[in-house]
Amino acid sequence: MDQSKPSFFITTPIYYVNAAPHLGTAYCTMLCDVQARYRRAAGYDVKFLTGMDEHGEKVAEAAQQHGFATPQEWCDSQAPLFKDLWKQLEISNDDFIRTTEPRQNHAVQYLWERMRESGYLYKGSYDGWYCVPEETYFTENQVKKSDEERGAKGEHLCPDCGRPLERVQEESYFFRLSAFQDKLLALYDERPDFVQPAFRMNEVRSFVEGGLTDLSVSRTSFDWGIKVPFDEKHVTYVWFDALLNYMTAVGYGVDSDEARAELAYRWPAQYHVVGKDIIRFHCVIWPAMLMALGEALPEHVFAHGFLTVRNAETGKAEKMSKSRGNAIAPQDVVDLLGVEGYRYYFMTDVAHGEDSAISFERMEQVYNADLANSWGNLISRSLNMSAKYFDGCAPAKPASADAFDNPLAKIADGLVERYMAKMDMLDYGGAKDEVMELIHAANHYIEDSEPWALAKDEAKADELAFVIYNLLEAIRIAAHLLMPLMPQTSVEALRRLSCEGEAASDDLKGICAWGLLAGGQPVEKGDPLFPRLA
Ligand code: MSP
Repeated sequence: MDQSKPSFFITTPIYYVNAAPHLGTAYCTMLCDVQARYRRAAGYDVKFLTGMDEHGEKVAEAAQQHGFATPQEWCDSQAPLFKDLWKQLEISNDDFIRTTEPRQNHAVQYLWERMRESGYLYKGSYDGWYCVPEETYFTENQVKKSDEERGAKGEHLCPDCGRPLERVQEESYFFRLSAFQDKLLALYDERPDFVQPAFRMNEVRSFVEGGLTDLSVSRTSFDWGIKVPFDEKHVTYVWFDALLNYMTAVGYGVDSDEARAELAYRWPAQYHVVGKDIIRFHCVIWPAMLMALGEALPEHVFAHGFLTVRNAETGKAEKMSKSRGNAIAPQDVVDLLGVEGYRYYFMTDVAHGEDSAISFERMEQVYNADLANSWGNLISRSLNMSAKYFDGCAPAKPASADAFDNPLAKIADGLVERYMAKMDMLDYGGAKDEVMELIHAANHYIEDSEPWALAKDEAKADELAFVIYNLLEAIRIAAHLLMPLMPQTSVEALRRLSCEGEAASDDLKGICAWGLLAGGQPVEKGDPLFPRLA
C-alpha cells in the first residue's frame, strides 16, 4: 500500500469450484489483469483481487460427484488448478481469496451482526424454488409455466438456465431488499456510469422497477456454508457470503488500526468486473447490502458478455460452459498462439461488453495480421536495419524531430491520451486500434522512406539516422502501450532497445513522450517475437 498514490482496487468474480477453469473464466480474469497492469503503469497503487467461491450446494454436489469426503478437500484439490492457470496466463493478482478462509468466516459473521443492528434483517420461512447451478431463488410467479414448458419428467425449470429447479421450504433469515427499490433507482439516476457499458443499465433499472422481493439469506436444509453467529442451525446463503469477499480482502470487520487504514484507503472498489449473468447480484443486491450497512458503494460494475462457440449441428452460437460440454481448455489456445497471442486475441478481438463467438480460424487470422505481420515485423525490420547500418546500435538522436517529414511523431502526439480514454473504459479493442495506427504507419514509413536506398547514399546519412531513430522510438512507445496486453514481449522489445529499465515506469504519459529514446545505445535484433503461424 503506497498511500502517496491513488488507490485502484479491481476485482473478478470469485469462481465456483465446480469444474476446472475454462476460456470463459479466464476471459474475465484477464480483463481485470490488463486493467490492473495499465493502472500500475499509469501511477496507481493497485490491488487486484480474484479467488474462489467455495460454499453452497453446487460446490458440495461437485465434491460428492467427484468422490471427495468433504467439500473442503475438493476445494483444496481445485485451488492449484486456478492458481496455476492464472500464473501461466500472466495474471498479476495481488490477492487470492477463498471463502473458506478464516478471514472470510470472520467478516461474514461481522456482517450478520451489523445486518441485525441495521433493522433490515428478519426471520421467516422460505417457500419457493431454487436453482442449484445458478444458486438463485425464484418465486412461484417467475417459474409458473404451462405443462409444455416443464422438463421431460414434468419438473419446473429455471427461467434463466433451463435446468430443473429444487423446491425449498425452510426457516430462513431475510434481507429486506424490498426497502431499497427507491434508493437503488436514485443511485442509477445519480450515477449513470455505475453500470458499464451503458446499455446494461437499462436491464438493471427495469428489473428494479419491476419490484423487489425480500431475499432469503440463510439456509437450514443444508450446512456447507458459514454459520450465522446468533443462530447456528442457519448457514449463510452463498451469495450473501460471496459478495462480501470484496470487502473482506481489504480488511472489513477486522479490529486493528492497520485493517481500518487499509479499508479506508481501498474501499470503495473502483471496478467489479463480472459476467452479464451475475449483474443483478452486483448491481442490485450488493449495493442494497452496502446501503443497509452504511458502507460506500463500488464506483463501477463492468459487465462483459459471454464467449460463445458455434454449435456444429444447429449453427447457433452457444455460451461456452462445462455443463454444455463445449468448453475449450485454455491450454489449447496457448498451444496455438502462445500466452501473449492468447491475451492479445481475447482482449482486443472479443466485442466490448457483448457476446462474442470465438473460433480458432479467427485467432490465427488476428495473430498473423496484427502480431506476426505488423508488430513483430516492425520490430524485426527496424532493429535489423538499425544494427546493420549503425554498427549494432541505435542512431544518435536527431537534433530536431522535424528535420525531415516525420509522420510517426504526428501520430504519437496525443496518442497516449487517446489510448487512455479507451483503456479507462476497459475498451481494449479501441485502445489497440490507437496503437495499431502507429504500428501500421511505421511499417508504411519503412516502405516510403526506403532506408536501404538511403544507406547507399553518403549524402543521406542524416536522413537515414532520422528514419531509423523514428522507427525505434515508435517501437518504444508502442511497447509501453501494449505492455498491459502482452507484458513479456513488450519488455523484450524494450530490452532489445536497451530500454528495459523503463518497463517498471509508473508514469505512462511521461514515458510515452516522443523523443525520450537516448540514441546511440546498443540494439539487439533477436529472434522473431511472433513467428507466423503456417
Ligand atoms: N461464484 C459466482 C460469482 C460470485 S462473485 C461474488 C459465479 N461463479 S461462476 O464460476 O459461475 O462464474 C464466474 C464468472 O465467469 C461469471 O462472471 C460468468 O459470467 C463468467 N463466465 C462463465 N462462463 C463464461 C463464458 N462462456 N464467457 C464469459 N464469461 C463466462 O457466478
